[in-house]
Amino acid sequence: MVKLGVNIDHIATLRQARKENEPDVLKAALLCEKAGAEAITVHLREDRRHIQDKDVYLLKKNIKTRLNLEMSVAQEIVKIALDVNPDDVCIVPEKRNELTTEGGLDVINQKTILKEIIEKLKRSGIRVSLFINPEIEQVNASAEVGADCVELHTGKYAISFKNKLKDVYLSELKRLKEAGEIALKKGLILNAGHGLDYENVKEIAEIKGMNELNIGFSIVSKAVFVGLEKAVNEMKDLIRDNSHIFNR
Ligand code: PXP
Repeated sequence: MVKLGVNIDHIATLRQARKENEPDVLKAALLCEKAGAEAITVHLREDRRHIQDKDVYLLKKNIKTRLNLEMSVAQEIVKIALDVNPDDVCIVPEKRNELTTEGGLDVINQKTILKEIIEKLKRSGIRVSLFINPEIEQVNASAEVGADCVELHTGKYAISFKNKLKDVYLSELKRLKEAGEIALKKGLILNAGHGLDYENVKEIAEIKGMNELNIGFSIVSKAVFVGLEKAVNEMKDLIRDNSHIFNR
């Protein structure tokens, strides 16, 4: 069975818009678990635009499934990861001005630093994944530097699916399947994520040997519409109940 890791970064994005305590990130994580998520994923970005250090510590202490911490190789963040000791770390490339993680990690050209960080994390009992584009050379390099898992970047597949560029998404799907096959042959755990939604997820979930999908934006977006009517109804009920006070 393919597992679901829910990325709750955008619950924190909403909270940071007011810098108050709502919506509560831990409460969201516990709800995701209640609904069947097998992991909670958060990205502690160097600019702390959504998830904060305290969120990561609180999640680690309170969730019952796995905590998957996405992070760059920045020294300060690696230090926090070693202190928090999440179940999983997924190393991602990070650029200050990007809206979201844009591409996969270039493992081939960062072997020395990645090897060193992976060793440190694994020594603490953390399972390490590398977020890479579906390229065979990057999969091979991931195995070489000692990663436990790869997370294949599905962003290009997702965008071409949305834009109905059939040739592009079919060729991207083929690349994902081929990269997945090599990953399994190399003994790596196979995960995937980025841009997956209610329309495009099925074909990715069907890739042979797929272990876990990490999905955030589409779930949080859908949650707004699944919950908005109820939220307005509850507020209307409160206003209606109090109207006799003001109408005297
Ligand atoms: N996996 C990784 C490594 C990511 O960086 C992200 C985005 O934070 C996701 C999965 C989730 O992507 P999305 O929010 O588009 O579902």
